[in-house]
Amino acid sequence: MSETNINWYPGHMAKTRRMLEEYLKQVDAVCELLDARIPRACRNPDIAALCGQKPRMIVLNRSDMADPDGTARWAAALKKEGYAVLATDCKNRKGVNQFVPAVRSLLGDKLTRYADKGLVGKQLKLMIVGIPNVGKSTLINQVAKNKSAKAENRPGVTRGKQWITVDQGLLLLDTPGILWPKLDDDEVARHLAYTGAINDEVLDCEWLACSLARLLWEKYPDAMRARYGIDVSPDAEGYEILEACGRKRGFLVSGGEVHTERMAKTLLEEFRSGKLGRFTLEEPQ
Ligand code: G4P
Repeated sequence: MSETNINWYPGHMAKTRRMLEEYLKQVDAVCELLDARIPRACRNPDIAALCGQKPRMIVLNRSDMADPDGTARWAAALKKEGYAVLATDCKNRKGVNQFVPAVRSLLGDKLTRYADKGLVGKQLKLMIVGIPNVGKSTLINQVAKNKSAKAENRPGVTRGKQWITVDQGLLLLDTPGILWPKLDDDEVARHLAYTGAINDEVLDCEWLACSLARLLWEKYPDAMRARYGIDVSPDAEGYEILEACGRKRGFLVSGGEVHTERMAKTLLEEFRSGKLGRFTLEEPQ
C-alpha cells in the first residue's frame, strides 16, 4: 500500500495456519465470512487450497451496512462460482435463522448418503473462518444461540475447542478460524482500511479519506451530495472533494482554509458508522 507501511497481520501467521489446517481436517464443510461491503478484499487467497474439495459456504455479513443491490449482485456471482451463499446482518439478527438450512442444503448429498447407508446419528461438522473483525464470533454466538458462551473469562482456564450442536446432526466448531487478508495488494489494503479493519494508527488518515472520498464520489455521488451538500466536478481529485465537504461543514482554520484533517476523520467515522449510507465498494468480476 503506498504512503503507508502496513505490517498489520501479526507474526503468528505460521502458527495460525497450522492450527487452521488441523481444524480443517476435522470438518465436513467450511463457511467463510466476508464483509458484504468489501467481499473481495476480505477473501483469503489461500483458503481454497487449505479447504481442498470440502464444500464451502460464503456468508456476506454486515449486510446492514452494504448496498442491498450490491449484496444481491455478489450473492448471485458467488452462487455462480458454486458456493452456497447467505447474507446476514448480525446486528439485527437478520438472515441468521437461514444459516442452518443453508448448511444442510450445502451438505445435502452427504446427509443423503449417510441416510442411505443407515448411518443414523452420524454428525456433520462445520467451521467458520474469516479475517479479524468480520463478525465470526458474533455469528457463532447467534447461530449457537449463545451456547458457546462458556466460562471463557475464568482466569487460568484455557478452554479446549468444543463442538456446539446447532441442529440435529450438525455441529459447529466454537472457535473461528482466523484468516489473513492479502495486504500486499494495494486495493485490498485500502478497502480494509476504509472499513476500519486495519488499525488507524498505522495509516495516514487524510490520505485514506481522500482516497475514500474519490471512490464514493465515483460510485455513490448522491449519498455524498445528500450528506455533505457538495457539488464538485465528477472527476475531481480526492483532496478537492474532501476540501469541499469540509468547507460545507464549516471546518475552517484561521485564514479561511479548510481543516482537512478534521474532515478526513469525520468522513471515515461517518462512513464506518453507517451515517453516510450503505455502500458496496467492490463489484464482482
Ligand atoms: P470476529 O470474531 O470476526 O473478530 O468479529 P466479532 O464477532 O468480534 O465482531 C466484530 C464487530 O463487528 C463487533 O462490534 C460486532 O458487534 C460487529 N458486527 C458483527 N456482525 C455485524 C453485522 O452484521 N452488522 C454490524 N453492523 N456489525 C456487526 P464491536 O464494536 O467490536 O463490538 P460491540 O459494539 O458489538 O460490542
